[in-house]
Amino acid sequence: MVTGHLNFYPHDGANELITERFMRVLTPIALLLCVLPAFVQAATGDPLAGRAAFAKCASCHAVGPSARAGFGPQLTNVIGRKAGSTADFKYSPAMSAAGFTWTEDKLRAFLKAPSDVVPGNKMRFWGIGSDKQIDDILAYLRTFQQ
Ligand code: HEC
Repeated sequence: MVTGHLNFYPHDGANELITERFMRVLTPIALLLCVLPAFVQAATGDPLAGRAAFAKCASCHAVGPSARAGFGPQLTNVIGRKAGSTADFKYSPAMSAAGFTWTEDKLRAFLKAPSDVVPGNKMRFWGIGSDKQIDDILAYLRTFQQ
């Protein structure tokens, strides 16, 4: 028995309002999701390309679970580590006294121009011109964070 009218959306007005609100929230999210991957890609780098680029560093630096100091300090867990703080490497006075913690931004700046970030450090390295290569190396180093 059908009484009254069959209306699955008895409050059309309210329903429209909900739809409108939903779209107002959803549209920016959808737009964000479209552009986000490009940013993430740019910000995170490519760890495989980074592994290849790390060849520039590997003559002096080891990285990995059992890495030890060589010509340079080991770089396992370097992101978030205090500069000049590994126990098995003898740092320059400049690096020992640097007093900051390696954030990704600090590392980026250091790899670009080591002497600008820690004047008087003894890392004999000119720096890397390519931002992409620096991002790739950071992505590679990130895979050794525990
Ligand atoms: C010719 C050798 C050499 C090369 C090549 C080299 N480094 Fe270094 N690096 C050093 C030395 C030596 C130090 C210590 C500097 C000091 O004590 O002043 C150092 C320090 C560092 C530190 C600071 C570590 C800490 O414990 O505070 C980071 C980070 C670093 N190097 C990253 C890199 C990366 C990444 C590359 C490759 C792009 C690279 N280095 C290339 C020799 C090198």
